[in-house]
Amino acid sequence: MVMDSVYLSVEKLDKTFLLHNQNKTRINAFKDIDLKAYRGECLVIRGESGSGKSTLLKTLYGNYLAKDGHIFIQHRGARVDLVRSEPRKIMQIRKETIGYVSQFLRVVPRVPCINIVAEPLLERGVDQAIALEKAQTLLERLHIPSHLWNLSPVTFSGGEQQRVNLAHGFIADYPILLLDEPTASLDAMNRDVVTELIHEKKAQGVALIGIFHDAHVRESVADRYVDMHSIGTLTP
Ligand SMILES: Nc1ncnc2c1ncn2[C@@H]1O[C@H](COP(=O)(O)OP(=O)(O)OP(=O)(O)O)[C@@H](O)[C@H]1O
Ligand SMILES: [Mg+2]
Repeated sequence: MVMDSVYLSVEKLDKTFLLHNQNKTRINAFKDIDLKAYRGECLVIRGESGSGKSTLLKTLYGNYLAKDGHIFIQHRGARVDLVRSEPRKIMQIRKETIGYVSQFLRVVPRVPCINIVAEPLLERGVDQAIALEKAQTLLERLHIPSHLWNLSPVTFSGGEQQRVNLAHGFIADYPILLLDEPTASLDAMNRDVVTELIHEKKAQGVALIGIFHDAHVRESVADRYVDMHSIGTLTP
């Protein structure tokens, strides 16, 4: 692999939670994690429940601050360490470089579904008509009926909310895309759409890192697997 195909490089990453209101209990989520993600491939993270997979993705997205280590990414043509970036820089990185699909949609009441989906493009300054058209295309592909597009997803089913979340995560062209169990509440038809969308991102050269409960999706999209136990030291 040539060096510039590395989009994300994690080195000696440690994450500890300190529970201040529970006798200052310390939980070591993971320690000494090393991994690399390359352009055009999907790296799948495996490990049993509670092994720190979601925590790792959230740390890669800058939701959690690592205790130690580095997360090097290519951002605006330069190598940037996310662990040592200011909050303002992290916001910029999330707008332009790293996308993240969490398992559950964080619903903001009163914001229509189509606007939630178009938001990442509007934030980047894309023309509103173009952003809404792209949002429509994705909602159609993910089988969200058009009579729901102007409603807030507050009342949507679990699977509908997950598909809105996916459309929001896939609409912009982020060079790095993090996926935390994106198909957990989907039926087979929509699961296949998500598989297709992931293949399209790979073909565009995106570096994907994902956690997939569903073996069918996992086997279809995975180029490489890493196990939480083999990429770092797990401390109970
Ligand atoms: N915000 C938090 N504060 C304190 N502890 C946390 C927090 N988030 C996660 N943990 C702990 O870190 C450990 C790893 O959790 P995580 O959610 O990353 O696991 P996971 O591998 O994604 O599991 P699953 O497959 O069940 O989703 C767990 O022991 C969990 O209790
Ligand atoms: Mg998880």
